[in-house]
Amino acid sequence: MRLPDSLQAAIERECAPFSPDELKKAASHLTTRYQESAPSAFQNPAAGAAYLAVRMPATYAAIYAVLLECSNRMRPPTTCLDLGAGPGTASWAAAALFPSLLTLTLIEQSLPMAQTGQRLASASLSPLLQHATWHTQPLQGSLPPADLALLSYVIAELSPAQTTQLLERLWPQTQTIVVIEPGTPAGYGRILQIREWALAADAHLIAPCPHRLACPLQSPDWCHFPARVERTRMHKFLKSATLGYEDEKFSYLAFSKTPAPIPLGRIVGPPKKGSGLIQFPLCTQGQLLCQTISRSQESYRSARNASWGDGWL
Ligand SMILES: C[S@@+](CC[C@H](N)C(=O)[O-])C[C@H]1O[C@@H](n2cnc3c(N)ncnc32)[C@H](O)[C@@H]1O
Repeated sequence: MRLPDSLQAAIERECAPFSPDELKKAASHLTTRYQESAPSAFQNPAAGAAYLAVRMPATYAAIYAVLLECSNRMRPPTTCLDLGAGPGTASWAAAALFPSLLTLTLIEQSLPMAQTGQRLASASLSPLLQHATWHTQPLQGSLPPADLALLSYVIAELSPAQTTQLLERLWPQTQTIVVIEPGTPAGYGRILQIREWALAADAHLIAPCPHRLACPLQSPDWCHFPARVERTRMHKFLKSATLGYEDEKFSYLAFSKTPAPIPLGRIVGPPKKGSGLIQFPLCTQGQLLCQTISRSQESYRSARNASWGDGWL
């Protein structure tokens, strides 16, 4: 996965005014805050640029993977609301994956971040992004109705009570809600809270859960998935990395007012592919199983192509 070329070029323009060392320092500060689940702080311009350079590619890859998984299972949306939009990461992914979209509305409380997002969007080749509506306001303010509501890496910045209030205000005016959080035990914990809320609201789960029963993953395990993103030279330098790619781990939940075709199971860990035998952890009907598929089975070909995060049959 790579960022769209127009987005990558716009990010490099945003980073150009800062020296590599200034950006590296800001990126390291950002990574520490991210690991500590501290709220975003974009008041310092170098911090905003560092977010674009080191976090936006990873969050884009995660959101893209989630929306791709949902896109075949939900009614094509015509309107999309990106809440806690930051630089508009989720909107870029939605614009790439949903040709049905006619309008995008983004809500972001930080003026510098919203302004940065507007500059990035104006460099896009997509008229949808170019003409998106931005509201610089807190999520606690009024929210327009939309078919699809995206909450990407923002719930970590709300208290559990604020999250519930937000869902209660959002749900009556949307069809589908997609929430993405860091793939850490804490991020998964927030997803579980939202899952409970969605089930109590009689929502239909779209992904990743293939059932409505209690989540069978037990601590120290937790439900999360990987998205691989190519590293640019700048990204490698800023993260002092040697590998040419980064695996972003994320947890997520998508739910809707309309029933969705869901698979029987979900692959919740990396498949082990040996000679003639493939094994993977499978979440299905409230249970966590170790699924073994041998060469003689009809599903062997599907298993050979299966990855962590895929629906299974
Ligand atoms: C970690 S960033 C994620 C940005 C973007 N959604 C992404 O995936 O790249 C979280 C964003 O949520 C915004 N935010 C946090 N709490 C908010 C609130 N109560 N109202 C509006 N925006 C909020 C922050 O300003 C920040 O830009």
